[in-house]
Amino acid sequence: MLPIKIKEGIYWVGGIDWDLRNFHGYLTQRGSTYNSYLIIDEKITLVDNVKYYLAEEQIARIAKIIDPGKIDYIIQNHIEMDHTGSLPYIFKKAPQVKIFASPKGVEGLSKHYQQNWDCQPVKTGEVIKLGKRSLHFIQTPMVHWPDNMVTYCPEEKILFSNDAFGQHIASSERFDDEYPFNILMHEAEKYYANIVLPYGKQVQNALKVLQDVDIDTICPSHGLIWRSKIPQILKEYGKWSQNQVDDKALIIYDTMWGSTRKIAYAIQDAFEIKGIHTKMFNLQQTHISDIMTEILTAKYICVGSPTLNNNILPIVAAFLVYFKGLAPKNRIGLAFGSYGWGGQSVGIIESDLKQCGFELMTSIRMQYIPGKEELQKETDKLIEQI
Ligand code: FEO
Repeated sequence: MLPIKIKEGIYWVGGIDWDLRNFHGYLTQRGSTYNSYLIIDEKITLVDNVKYYLAEEQIARIAKIIDPGKIDYIIQNHIEMDHTGSLPYIFKKAPQVKIFASPKGVEGLSKHYQQNWDCQPVKTGEVIKLGKRSLHFIQTPMVHWPDNMVTYCPEEKILFSNDAFGQHIASSERFDDEYPFNILMHEAEKYYANIVLPYGKQVQNALKVLQDVDIDTICPSHGLIWRSKIPQILKEYGKWSQNQVDDKALIIYDTMWGSTRKIAYAIQDAFEIKGIHTKMFNLQQTHISDIMTEILTAKYICVGSPTLNNNILPIVAAFLVYFKGLAPKNRIGLAFGSYGWGGQSVGIIESDLKQCGFELMTSIRMQYIPGKEELQKETDKLIEQI
């Protein structure tokens, strides 16, 4: 339980959640961390906290540097419980602590914890002095909750970015240049797709503010600290927040007796013939959060289900609920599916894709087991539309 030095007098004192595999529906195959940072100055300051069950670990790391009872200030950039769960434990050690959070953060802390803690609301542009360092606050509402803010220390060129630029990775490594870059970027992409995607406009606003700030280290609240790959992650956030997509088609489906799968492969043929990269996802085999990672940069989203009881298969319904909530934009949609009678599934999927504001290609609805020739006709019709 050692702290990790980031710069002289600034330490990572977070918790590593090696066992985490599900973060409210998001499959976290590599676990996660909840990052907390300790600044040793005239005012001893803790930036963000950890989940409640890692409080002892956080406090043990702090205790390797100072007596936790000496903490003066807490900067709480965000109140979600993965970053505030240890607050009651810190207060037991240091009841004199003063918390700085956004106005919505202060309100939320009171509603979450019902304690009479000393909280001071701070807004964009406000600054506090710690001694030789200062902390500047920038509100970033909806990246990820209404209360979010980031904190900038100009003397150290550090941005404490909380949820922004995070990745769900549990590791002993703490810095971006110590970890395989492709895995780091994949996890940053998955994190963006499953957590930040609905808030593209707010991310763009935050990126505009950060353009004018001299940063050499980004300390997020999950995963690795950025110090060598900052231009790369800022560039990707710029792309993702604008819903910029690649010429890539995803074919996402579930099948009952294999007919909807046949249609899925006929659709794939059309995209392949047009030279468009395709990926097939049977929802029985791939988790929706991994599919979302691919959706982040895919132009064509094709969704298929057979009709079951005048409806769609449950796993397709679950995918669509999750997908609509994350609100990807500027895509082209295609609904498809097989049926025996009724055939309502395709209309239901169409309606959901329309709700996302997607341009739609002509849907494909085929009865019972489609034959080779029928499938070829659908491939040919689709080729004309792509
Ligand atoms: Fe990592 Fe919105 O909490």
